[in-house]
Amino acid sequence: MMLDSLPTPRTPDPMDAPPLRWGVMGPGWIAAQFTKSLQTYTRQEVVAVGSRSLPRAQEFAAQHDVRTAVGSYEELVALDDVDIVYVATPHPAHLELAILSLEAGKHVLVEKPIGLSAGQAREIAAVAERTGLYCAEALWTMFLPKWDVVRQVVELGGLGEIRSVHSEYGESFPDGHRVFDPALAGGPLLDLGIYPLAFVTSLLGPHEAVAALGQQDPHGVNGQLGATMTHAGGTLSVIATTLHGFLANQVTIVGTEGILTVEPTHHSPGPLTLRCADRTLTYDEPRGNQVSGLHFQAVEAARRITAGETQTPWWTLGASITALEASDEIRRQIGDDLRAAGLRE
Ligand SMILES: NC(=O)c1ccc[n+]([C@@H]2O[C@H](COP(=O)([O-])OP(=O)(O)OC[C@H]3O[C@@H](n4cnc5c(N)ncnc54)[C@H](OP(=O)(O)O)[C@@H]3O)[C@@H](O)[C@H]2O)c1
Repeated sequence: MMLDSLPTPRTPDPMDAPPLRWGVMGPGWIAAQFTKSLQTYTRQEVVAVGSRSLPRAQEFAAQHDVRTAVGSYEELVALDDVDIVYVATPHPAHLELAILSLEAGKHVLVEKPIGLSAGQAREIAAVAERTGLYCAEALWTMFLPKWDVVRQVVELGGLGEIRSVHSEYGESFPDGHRVFDPALAGGPLLDLGIYPLAFVTSLLGPHEAVAALGQQDPHGVNGQLGATMTHAGGTLSVIATTLHGFLANQVTIVGTEGILTVEPTHHSPGPLTLRCADRTLTYDEPRGNQVSGLHFQAVEAARRITAGETQTPWWTLGASITALEASDEIRRQIGDDLRAAGLRE
């Protein structure tokens, strides 16, 4: 169907969501952005922070006006006044800490990637199902207003039939960053590539076949890779990710009736452009960053939990697993074996 204008996001006002009491696990970079985002744009309360070191928790609590600081993750999940834990540690700890939180009776929002592999994501999903608690991966783009516009354009047939999806994500990092550390599952795929994988699998479904190539970084992690995948209905995706520099960092969705571009930087708040034969339509969302976007996934959790639901349709645990299945196959083909770094896959 030829669209005359782009749809309006159906995203509810973040200020309307019922307030939950959040406990932040791992007071690092993303934890600070998340806390600022909740405090700026929502009525959610960050009531506690847990660190492996009490002074680090206390420092974060003082900087971000958080009333309780504890010196272990076990103490954090035992706090009676915490409703939901935000797991913000590096990826190899997500499995253990998501399960620690769920077993303690806490709902959980787990930073991406939810696990190192599809198998780990399935383990978390099984515990979430058994405990009957809310669990989601913090794939924040899927909760942004702009992604609801993408969803509606596709559902309304504004692209005709989708033929292919192309997405890349490259950045550069300072020396010493955790992305260069094999023991922290470094490399671009699980940190950056997880976004293109989420975009293409959410639009095209699970991969059928994969052809991937990658090259090592001198630090002993994969440095860059590209993968082409086929999906149901004769559709194709092409992704690339690198630690060596910034790429276009956009998503291009090619359909029989039009091309939709999620403009740079694809995973953050920002504009979209739909180009059809006789018209160009734009969705003008101000470009933003983590602080202006991380809260949408938190208020979605608050709404679902208050309604007695355990998952969000915007990014289900099944969707997380599907994206990680593609990641697993790419890692297998490029020879990126996390077990060599002493990690469990
Ligand atoms: N959504 C996004 O835009 C976004 C952006 C960046 C990162 N992330 C995700 O968030 C997670 C954390 O990334 P980050 O950049 O915030 O990392 P970071 O700055 O290094 O912080 C991670 C925190 O986790 C704790 N931690 C637990 N085990 C650790 C270990 N073995 N090594 C180092 N720290 C450990 C540390 O706190 P204590 O030791 O004090 O407990 C540390 O402060 C990653 O999984 C990443 O993929 C998401």
